[in-house]
Amino acid sequence: MTSRDHREKAIKKAGFNTFLLQSKDVYIDLLTDSGTSAMSDRQWAGLMMGDEAYAGSRNFYHLEEAVQHFYGYKHLVPTHQGRGAEHIISQIMIKEGDIIPGNMYFTTTKLHQELAGGKFVDVIVEEAHDPDSLYPFKGDVDLDKLQAVIDEYGADRIPYIAIATTVNMAGGQPISMKNMQELRALTDKYGIKIIHDMTRVAENAFMIQQKEAGYQDKSVAEITRALCDLTDGATMSAKKDAMVNIGGFLALNDDKLFDEARNMVVIFEGLHTYGGMAGRDMEALAIGIAESVQDDHMKARVGQVHYLGNKLLEFGVPIVKPVGTHGIFLDAKAFLPHVAQDYFPAQVLAAELYIDSGVRAMERGIVSAGRNKETGEHHYPKLELVRLTIPRRVYTQAHMDVVAESVGTVYENREKINGLKMVYEPKYLRFFQARFEKL
Ligand SMILES: Cc1ncc(COP(=O)(O)O)c(C=O)c1O
Repeated sequence: MTSRDHREKAIKKAGFNTFLLQSKDVYIDLLTDSGTSAMSDRQWAGLMMGDEAYAGSRNFYHLEEAVQHFYGYKHLVPTHQGRGAEHIISQIMIKEGDIIPGNMYFTTTKLHQELAGGKFVDVIVEEAHDPDSLYPFKGDVDLDKLQAVIDEYGADRIPYIAIATTVNMAGGQPISMKNMQELRALTDKYGIKIIHDMTRVAENAFMIQQKEAGYQDKSVAEITRALCDLTDGATMSAKKDAMVNIGGFLALNDDKLFDEARNMVVIFEGLHTYGGMAGRDMEALAIGIAESVQDDHMKARVGQVHYLGNKLLEFGVPIVKPVGTHGIFLDAKAFLPHVAQDYFPAQVLAAELYIDSGVRAMERGIVSAGRNKETGEHHYPKLELVRLTIPRRVYTQAHMDVVAESVGTVYENREKINGLKMVYEPKYLRFFQARFEKL
């Protein structure tokens, strides 16, 4: 634990960007659920079974088996993490001038699409942009919006539609099975592929089990597999659902695309049977995949997120509703209505929370959204959020109480909070390294 004085100095030194804090200065770390979960005893045992052969490691074949069994994809290309897979799929499928519709953007995914010459177009349901809408499947695609994109640009310019389970930037919101099935029917009509950002697919499956009629008797494992079966391929950041500290992959059903991806991975990641991961990491990942689809695990994991969400709702704090799966998202526009979006309300709110208690959260608003490539103007997302992301199997409910009480304290004192100005802006993914000063 640190003093308020210590934290004030630390966040100033970090340019009011929680990504630039040292973890030793953090008490409860809710920056991200990426690579921060606790591996199980079985996963740690798996590390000891690492086969570090350069080529054809037995851990690769175990991982391939897990991906085929639990997710149903035919081919596996390991990568060092999710964005490695995004890079490869974007480079092999997107050409200059292409359009990639998706259920809301994700920072690294969109950047890789743009670097390959494509343009992302948002086709998520309108409810996803409204933090107060109680629509249960805010990850759903608005099929009319998608149809309009197809009509405007033509299917030939759409190499694939990018579908995330769950939708991170919308607040960890799930897509429904019904919507996925309808989406499959529509894309089949035009021969458009679905590439699945399956980073939190098991969490999405759990929400379907809880909320969608007809799935209460299905297991998370069965629903996960059914979601994957409706898609053509996937990018995976294994650092989330699968609870490893590092790792990811690209999974594909199409033989020809797989051939291209397998060739490209050797340029940027490593040989096609390790792709940037050590053998031991692939073993821990194979085991983590099996653990991630267990119903009891998912009930505890999402249950903890909901425990925190319900506390904050009791305190009257504005958060994205309904509560999603991997974190609680504070609605910074409603929290700090006196701070205009140009003065980075979510950025300053994350900094104030850190100063209050040493809890580290992150901005998911105007800073994360970046600038319009053509005009150079800021994107102004409707959602201006602070994400309190819960690592899996790490914290207790008592930690959640501390977090809730601190958010409550900051909320009581919200009128004293002023905005920030950006004094350093990196060219790519600015939220990671941008620096700010108090107005
Ligand atoms: C939905 C989603 N897609 C892709 C990624 C990128 O994965 P990684 O951080 O492993 O590169 C992340 C993680 O931050 C994510 O949450």
